[in-house]
Amino acid sequence: MHMASNEDVFKKIISHAKEYGFVFPSSEIYDGLSAVYDYGPFGVELKNNIREYWWKSMVQYHENIVGVDAAIFMHPTVWKASGHVDAFNDPMIDNKDSKKRYRADVLIEDHMAKIEEKILKEVEKARSRFGESFDEKMFRETNPRVKENQDKIDAIRTRFYPALDRNDLEDVKKLIEELGIVCPISGSRNWTEVRQFNLMFSTQMGSVNEDANEIYLRPETAQGIFVNFLNVQKTARMKIPFGIAQTGKAFRNEIVARQFLFRMREFEQMEMQYFVKPGEELTWYEYWKQQRMKWHLSLGIPKEKYRFHNHEKLAHYANAAADIEFHFPIGFKELEGIHSRTDFDLGAHQKYSGKKLQYFDTETNENYVPYVVETSIGLDRTFLAVLSHAYKEEKLEDGSERVVLSIPAFLAPIKVAVLPLVKKDGLPEKAREIMDTLMYDYRCFYEEKDTIGRRYRRMDALGTPFAITIDHQTLKDNTVTIRDRDTMRQERIEVSKISEAVREKISTSSF
Ligand code: GAP
Repeated sequence: MHMASNEDVFKKIISHAKEYGFVFPSSEIYDGLSAVYDYGPFGVELKNNIREYWWKSMVQYHENIVGVDAAIFMHPTVWKASGHVDAFNDPMIDNKDSKKRYRADVLIEDHMAKIEEKILKEVEKARSRFGESFDEKMFRETNPRVKENQDKIDAIRTRFYPALDRNDLEDVKKLIEELGIVCPISGSRNWTEVRQFNLMFSTQMGSVNEDANEIYLRPETAQGIFVNFLNVQKTARMKIPFGIAQTGKAFRNEIVARQFLFRMREFEQMEMQYFVKPGEELTWYEYWKQQRMKWHLSLGIPKEKYRFHNHEKLAHYANAAADIEFHFPIGFKELEGIHSRTDFDLGAHQKYSGKKLQYFDTETNENYVPYVVETSIGLDRTFLAVLSHAYKEEKLEDGSERVVLSIPAFLAPIKVAVLPLVKKDGLPEKAREIMDTLMYDYRCFYEEKDTIGRRYRRMDALGTPFAITIDHQTLKDNTVTIRDRDTMRQERIEVSKISEAVREKISTSSF
């Protein structure tokens, strides 16, 4: 059997997303805009459903979490206080021959990953040679080739990460040269110096150049929550511990952006900042790590597709941090971050604004700056996770093939397809009548063109969980067939029972 490579699968998902109206390249008629995408008629529904589910899970299911919708533009000092002006950088390097730009850290990390691959190959070879008695740990410790490669990786690590920490970009460049890393396009080692590149987009606010201020497009939604901490706490009468949730656009001028929805320059985040008493942050951090993993599993995706990656090297503001990684077609990669951010942000805003951002604890009669545990997930990355898990090519018993998106019913862009078997004999009129009773509760889709088989295939490709077919018997006894996308089984049910049958299947699972 031919197994499609992961890269092939990724390409297929991208072209499926375009062909079926989920995701288009931005400004496509002008050949697109790098790492910017538009959501089409079915993509926007799926995206809205994911956002709504996240919002419900956070705000509606937690009495002590409320929402905000802060503006994208913020006072420029916000980004000074948050550290983004000085430190939201990636090291970049250009190849002088191909004129392509790369992230220096990614070039080195990819180089290490290649050596790691060699090790894995040796391990796998040995595993199949030795069978059951294979002791991987011992093999790794004693095989000379594996040891030599592991030593190489360790040597790179111990030089590269401290160099980055010291901001010693000259040494990073030297390392790239010493490792003999070549540009994948030109094959040359003709590199420029390594420079730090700030990822924030800036623009001018104001009418004339002289009095215009440089302001930024927010690179994360979180700061809109921090600066509103007291407004929210007072007006919604929140008591610690409590959370503030927000969804919205964020912008980053990513240097390398060739991974579809995974790394975009304009994307959407869903963030929640949980304000806690200092000293209790690590308990809440563990709580939110588990809660968020449960949320992911409630999407019906198996747990093998997820893993935690605990950060060993912490950002200056964090005292614990972990990612929830997802097995995308491009490998295990970050989908969500859970960070214990201490009082870094509120403390910094207090300092820069000169305004107190403290909480008065009526139980202990104390004032303090709360600590924060943050959950931060990319909406577009979640969309990509749901889409790539749902995409399936199936060979059917009759030898034909179908592409089906097995999106969980509660997230599916369209819930019910309403299909008159033929375009005559009063069937379209009856179908419209049924559609009218369903469309106020569910996103429905009416289609009368093409053979019924083709219409089913199209609905499978859009991930529509139910197809209702109105046939001649419907006119006699007011029954229809209801077809299940996944099993392709059809059942006859009374028209009055459709709504209930659909509701039962699309109710969200509790977690
Ligand atoms: N407030 C914390 C914060 O912004 P982050 O790890 O930089 O943390 C959080 O981003 C999440 O936002 C990531 O886990 C990812 O899902 C999403 N994200 C970040 N950069 C992205 C990009 N360029 N394109 C798409 N999603 C992105």
